[in-house]
Amino acid sequence: MESKKRTEWRYAWLCRGLLSMLTAWVLVLEVKIKLWIAPSRQETSNLKNAQAAGVPSSGPAEVAQEIQELEDKLWEKINCAKRIKDRLISQFMQLDADIQANDKIISELMKKLNALKHEEAEDGVGNISTRADGVDTAQFNVLRILGVGGFGTVFLVRKKGGADAGRLYAMKVLEKSSIIRNDTPTHALTERLVLEAVRNLPFLATIHYAFQTDTKLYLVLDYARGGNLRTKSYERSFTEDEARIYISETILALEYLHKRGIMHRDVKLENILLDSDGHAVLSDFGVSKMFLPCEQHQAHSYCGTLGYMAPELIESSDAGYDMAVDWWSLGIVTHELLTGGESPFETRSVSQTRKEIIHRIIEDEPCIQNDLSVHAKDFISKLLVKDPRKRLGGGEDGAEELKRHPFLNGMNWSDLEQKKISAPFAPQETNESQGSNSVEESSPISFAGSPIFSAATQTTLTNLPDSQFPNCDDIFWGYSYVSPSVHCS
Ligand code: ADE
Repeated sequence: MESKKRTEWRYAWLCRGLLSMLTAWVLVLEVKIKLWIAPSRQETSNLKNAQAAGVPSSGPAEVAQEIQELEDKLWEKINCAKRIKDRLISQFMQLDADIQANDKIISELMKKLNALKHEEAEDGVGNISTRADGVDTAQFNVLRILGVGGFGTVFLVRKKGGADAGRLYAMKVLEKSSIIRNDTPTHALTERLVLEAVRNLPFLATIHYAFQTDTKLYLVLDYARGGNLRTKSYERSFTEDEARIYISETILALEYLHKRGIMHRDVKLENILLDSDGHAVLSDFGVSKMFLPCEQHQAHSYCGTLGYMAPELIESSDAGYDMAVDWWSLGIVTHELLTGGESPFETRSVSQTRKEIIHRIIEDEPCIQNDLSVHAKDFISKLLVKDPRKRLGGGEDGAEELKRHPFLNGMNWSDLEQKKISAPFAPQETNESQGSNSVEESSPISFAGSPIFSAATQTTLTNLPDSQFPNCDDIFWGYSYVSPSVHCS
């Protein structure tokens, strides 16, 4: 709002400046013309007098005519300039009135916003506030880092007190400074909103808390103790039967998202985690797009991970792209799962530039490994069709098209949804999941002054202490959240 106001003021002052210049210019022009016309008028009348007195004219009669015409043209120009000046003055008055009206609206809205914030701070029970019901880092012990990426850092933490004392969570920490520097507040806010929208849906990450300090955003999620499918695909290769279960669970996750107007845009092995029973958990909604019910499901931004990007997303034409980009990525995931991590458009043994990968995705046919079953090959090649309208899942029926494919024949979708179908393997119990007497927890690290925490999260920071960081409450207002289950317990 502030910057909009500033822009309007700048515009108003620019108009004022231009107007003054124009007025000055018209005045100068007028004076010049008058000075120039006076002698010429004198000359004309001298000529007429001489003619009347019978004195032969010093030049042809056309000279007088020409002077008259020039004079007329100049007056026409002066009048035109005057009309432009009048029009600009009336437009400026209108603009000034609009700015004043806008100022009034903005100050009313600011008043309302402040009143709302005040009310909320007083009742302290709403599940949306700047600070989430007193939840903060002091209530968690940090056990270790689960992952570091461009998005921030994910820690394994244990809740210290409250109804969920002792419970392990994955805590994702994002730096506000990086978010603002990269101009991605919308991504951070969308991620938090998507997490709330998909709570309690199987095969999707579950949020428990979201809160913030002046410098950081925190998301507290279910800890998926089985790690991610990228790491697993390096540890062991999956049979088609095993891969089919992960693929089917991910199809259900994407179906839930798409039905709620959410495009994931970053489906990849790293973002498919495994929970304590080994079921797939689609996570990381950092670049997801959430459409309003009335909106057309068409996006235009270039985002995601190159190796998984659909051609229409890379090309970013005016027409944009839709949910079918997620089905393309699933085609890549399927191939990688069945081949120990090999992509149909990249060769791990040969290094390729981004340009070469882009060229292959847009122009070349996918290189599908020959030793896969006929149905698996067909499933992958139909997901990797360049035209999103002809791609499996790209039609009206969406996910149903995938479910009907022979590769997934015989899958009991209702049992799968209820997690009645066992996952290919269950992750092993770790020390940390068995209690707090493990080596790692004999000296738990708290967030304040934690060396792990500092090392991992301060690398991209401008290192401003909380007290000096510019206030971004307005940008991240509404980020904080406490899950209803915590409220009830
Ligand atoms: N890495 C990112 N998110 C995670 C989660 N929820 N559980 C485990 N590891 C993760």
